[in-house]
Amino acid sequence: MNHRAVLLTCFLCLALTQNEVDSQKFGDVQAVYEWTTLDLDWPSEAVKEEFINNGSFAVDKNVVSGIKVYKNEVYLSIPRWLSTTGIPVSLVKVVKVGSEVKLRPYPDWASQTVGDCQALQYVQSMEIDPNTGRMYVIDVGRNGLFAQSGAQNLCPAKIVVFDLHTDQRVASYDFPDDVVKRDDNFLNDIVLDYVDGQVKYAYITDVNAHSIHVFDFGTKRAWSLNDEASMKAEPDGGIIVINGKNYTFSLGVNGIAMSPNFDYLYYSSIGAYSLYQVPTSTLRNGGSDGIRLVGKKGSQSDGMAFSCKRLYYGALSKNAVCYWDIEKDMRDQNKDISHVTLNTQTQLVKDDQKMQWQDTFAIDEEGYLWFTADRLQLLFTNTMNFTGSEINMRIYKVFINETSYLHGAPGRTNNNTAGQRFGGTLSIINLFWSLFLTVFLSLKRTE
Ligand SMILES: *[C@@H]1O[C@H](CO)[C@@H](O)[C@H](O)[C@H]1NC(C)=O
Ligand SMILES: *[C@@H]1O[C@H](CO)[C@@H](O)[C@H](O)[C@H]1NC(C)=O
Ligand SMILES: *[C@@H]1O[C@H](CO)[C@@H](O)[C@H](O)[C@H]1NC(C)=O
Ligand SMILES: *[C@@H]1O[C@H](CO)[C@@H](O)[C@H](O)[C@H]1NC(C)=O
Repeated sequence: MNHRAVLLTCFLCLALTQNEVDSQKFGDVQAVYEWTTLDLDWPSEAVKEEFINNGSFAVDKNVVSGIKVYKNEVYLSIPRWLSTTGIPVSLVKVVKVGSEVKLRPYPDWASQTVGDCQALQYVQSMEIDPNTGRMYVIDVGRNGLFAQSGAQNLCPAKIVVFDLHTDQRVASYDFPDDVVKRDDNFLNDIVLDYVDGQVKYAYITDVNAHSIHVFDFGTKRAWSLNDEASMKAEPDGGIIVINGKNYTFSLGVNGIAMSPNFDYLYYSSIGAYSLYQVPTSTLRNGGSDGIRLVGKKGSQSDGMAFSCKRLYYGALSKNAVCYWDIEKDMRDQNKDISHVTLNTQTQLVKDDQKMQWQDTFAIDEEGYLWFTADRLQLLFTNTMNFTGSEINMRIYKVFINETSYLHGAPGRTNNNTAGQRFGGTLSIINLFWSLFLTVFLSLKRTE
């Protein structure tokens, strides 16, 4: 056997094993969890009763929104949206207690106390870096953002970092009031940006400020990109039609996604069809150059996420999840990422009853796209029925056979020579390992 034949055999056997393990096809969907109302993992039934009796837990105020997944554990946010009371925790992990699915406060109960500015006040979104197992949580710092009685502005907005291996808080950064307003911000979604093999920046949308905030983990400084033209609702986008009913959501910049090469950030407003991109060089340097309309989505959307090759987003008026095959459009149009137009939009999954309001997306390391479908149009019009048998919130996973934009980022963004030498050494080790395996296997076969 010559060298090439040996390698080929090895790759073939790997591909076959993969196919045997995954009988799944692209687009196969599973409902993982569903709830009419949420329940927490309480210290005891007595404590739960006390919380219900004194109004500290009200089932009709608790709805899941954000989702991220790490090593098959699901982390969810419960935003303190419509009320300043009745939502005891804002960040949870899904656990099985006996045969029941419960939401366990993450990392613990003490970290959820309203008014304690070390604790989480209002969490909508988080990002998990699969390379380190760290979760970056954005905390609005406010309580009851859309409460009829008005919001309580008790704490500054912040980014809190948890190590998911130890469940410890490893860092916390307050935003200064002149960057993120303590009494009027709606930090909505977050992505991470890698430079030289490390997480260097976070980009965070602020629905109320029509801004994208930048946080530099190196210098611990923060600044904002505000662009009214691209970051607010559009005149024809504020009404979202869902199953024939009109819902008004004239809200600003919200869903956000990072290109897998870390060159462009993509964003869209809730009340808008337009998808924009801005170069990360602009965000990193505090400028405003290069904002570009990429194209119009087929519907308004809430969350979005880039895998290692495609952009996934909800289609609110179609009760569907779609994706943009950017590589195909670049080939078809013969244009690079900085000039290509959003054209090829493909529906991944759809269900008019069960997939209403595709809120937030997550991509795990096993090839699944996860999302929450939570009927927010009903919650925000006071028409969600928490007493009937209707399912209000669902969590889905769809097989896409792709990983997230963050997969392998340390190696891909490490441009220094030490990194290259390290990478080179690794591939030589890999080569020897493949050779060894193949020879070993063929010896076994001839036994
Ligand atoms: C997943 O993608 C890899 C290539 O990246 C391919 O070899 C494999 O067959 C795919 N698996 C499935 C189940 O589609
Ligand atoms: C409600 O009861 C719980 C459990 O005893 C307690 O921790 C909480 O502070 C009470 N909340 C109010 C608003 O009294
Ligand atoms: C619903 O909104 C559309 C615009 O999106 C408008 O043309 C239509 O008249 C509205 N229908 C109702 C019943 O308000
Ligand atoms: C909620 O659903 C139940 C049973 O499906 C029904 O009896 C009740 O009237 C509904 N409540 C509202 C406010 O629609």
